[in-house]
Amino acid sequence: MRIVHITDLHVASAGFVPEWGERLIRSVNAQQADLIVVTGDLVDDGLEHEYVAAKRFLDQFETRPAETAANGSTGARRMLVVPGNHDLRYNGGALFDRIFGGRQPTWRSDDVLVVGADSAAPDVDDGSISAHQMVTLAERLSEATAKTKILALHHHIMPIPGSGRDRDIVSNAGDVLHLCLETGVDVVLTGHMHRPWIWRLDDLHVISGGTATTNRYKGGTYPAYGVLDLGESAIFTEINVRDESTRAWELQLRNTRRAAESIPSSDRLPIESAGLPPAVAASPVG
Ligand SMILES: [Fe+2]
Repeated sequence: MRIVHITDLHVASAGFVPEWGERLIRSVNAQQADLIVVTGDLVDDGLEHEYVAAKRFLDQFETRPAETAANGSTGARRMLVVPGNHDLRYNGGALFDRIFGGRQPTWRSDDVLVVGADSAAPDVDDGSISAHQMVTLAERLSEATAKTKILALHHHIMPIPGSGRDRDIVSNAGDVLHLCLETGVDVVLTGHMHRPWIWRLDDLHVISGGTATTNRYKGGTYPAYGVLDLGESAIFTEINVRDESTRAWELQLRNTRRAAESIPSSDRLPIESAGLPPAVAASPVG
């Protein structure tokens, strides 16, 4: 099972770099992913012409053909999209709903459950998860059959080092973290900060994706997206779309820990760090 995580595309914005956008599409399509998760900020101001461009951009992504995919739930391209704060500006939420069919999508295969949450609100940059949505998330994430559970939302739920003043974190992040631990979530995928990072809290991995398509990446990082491979072990690979360099981490998820420990070290994929980050070292900005 391969899941690609992209976020903060900001299509049609001043910072969007078309060359990186083309590289991202080529690189992601080569991954033959089972699912592509997009954690918001598809556009900049929630305007119709931006959404038209974003839809056109997203339509170029491909996933593994359905007949060979891990029980893909939809047609030729499987994509789970949640909104970011920029998407909901100027009533952009109405356009988001029309194009993507809702803001709290769910995807599942035999082994993996991915639940999307809407942490954004119109015309504010702050993130929060409503009380009503917390109840819905608790119900969805309590499903016992999934080996791996993933929560996808736009705003970060843990502070991200090196990203400046830590504004806009989900206002009830503590409750969301608690819910994740209580329901056995393995991975949280977020965006918003434009800076790749991984935190590990017990068996929970909280992954902040970078922006792969804009020049607004932060903290001396680079334009990047992520690939999560779930098998006998769990590997998260961060791919720099500018120079195609990669960095990988082995994640110790609840249901892969035992399997990973049983794999002879010589058979493991080359892993840059056996532990967890610093997820991203300072990189020259070109
Ligand atoms: Fe963003």
